[in-house]
Amino acid sequence: MKLTLFSAKSYDKHYFTQTLQAHHPDITLTEHPFALTSETVSLAQGSTAVCVFVNDTLDAPVLHALHSYGIRAILLRCAGYNNIDLPLAESLGFFVANVPSYSPEAVAEFAVALIQTLNRKTHRAYNRVREGNFNLEGFLGSTLYGKTVGVVGLGRIGMAFARIMRGFGCRLLGMDPYGGEEFVKELGGEYVGLDVLLERSDIVSLHCPLTEGTRHIINKGSLGKLKRGAMVVNTSRGGLVNTRDTVGALKEGILGGLALDVYEEEGDLFYNDHSAEIIHDDTLMRLMTFPNVLVCGHQAFFTREALSEIAQVTLGNLEDFRLKRSCRNSLVREGHLLVEGDKEPVRL
Ligand code: NAI
Repeated sequence: MKLTLFSAKSYDKHYFTQTLQAHHPDITLTEHPFALTSETVSLAQGSTAVCVFVNDTLDAPVLHALHSYGIRAILLRCAGYNNIDLPLAESLGFFVANVPSYSPEAVAEFAVALIQTLNRKTHRAYNRVREGNFNLEGFLGSTLYGKTVGVVGLGRIGMAFARIMRGFGCRLLGMDPYGGEEFVKELGGEYVGLDVLLERSDIVSLHCPLTEGTRHIINKGSLGKLKRGAMVVNTSRGGLVNTRDTVGALKEGILGGLALDVYEEEGDLFYNDHSAEIIHDDTLMRLMTFPNVLVCGHQAFFTREALSEIAQVTLGNLEDFRLKRSCRNSLVREGHLLVEGDKEPVRL
């Protein structure tokens, strides 16, 4: 059985190879450093399954090509699935599975790292001290103890984040239209609406998914409701924040700090080295001129533990496909699976 990885980095290869050797020695791995697109899809020929990441394209031309090669399994080694035409994949009989959760603490801890970097200016101190400059001017931060932190989205990552912030001695406000009981009972958080959360929080951290309802949840209107000088942190999905509107709010001092691990136009930039090129994204480049803005390249998940879990769950999904077992991470209706060699859908 052959598995082809697209957008594969050295670390993907490392963790997938390690898991294959330990648990699935009969699976052969081929990895390509570039993304899966209609230009590269032909390189999947001969595979049983393809494995993709957040910026690979699984649109109609790619899905039809994969189907024509006899490939029937698509493994997403991430939680999000906005880059795949799922209804078409389902109608073509593909098995599609993702990794719904991997080390929520990894993302939560990274959100805290961003907050403290911006707050205490450790990124600037690192550079200054290396030049022999021990002046503290410009490094004044705030003590987090006693501050109010607003958590938007009280799922796995939001709760992990809230637990850490509670450890700092922060007051917790939370908002989630579909839950929050644990947040109130376990952490003593206060469950509020978005407007109240924005008005009262010193730090607002986003942990809800990107949907049509949450797209640009941070926009000119909501930024206008923020406590003046508050910090906004986004480690969830870029589309939650209207980036242009944040530039205005930063210039006016409404927004006191902005930490982004994700960016709405990240697709063409993140995960690759563009340091020798002209970057044409003026909004992003303007954003990076502000001293109180921190941008990272979608790395909150990037820990040894999370990569190991991603490889194990992805290959477990492949095993479910291979054994025609019901898969709990399946994104298409079970019972419509066509596996290699089958002419008719397999009823599970
Ligand atoms: P989850 O599904 O456990 O939690 C999401 C929560 O958001 C749920 O409780 C849901 O009810 C809530 N929610 C839905 N609509 C909402 C709304 N309109 N307002 C407020 N809350 C709303 O997901 P999990 O694992 O906590 O992940 C959260 C997000 O983190 C994911 O959607 C993903 O986009 C992002 N993520 C980012 C990573 C990174 O490396 N930066 C890595 C992994 C996930």
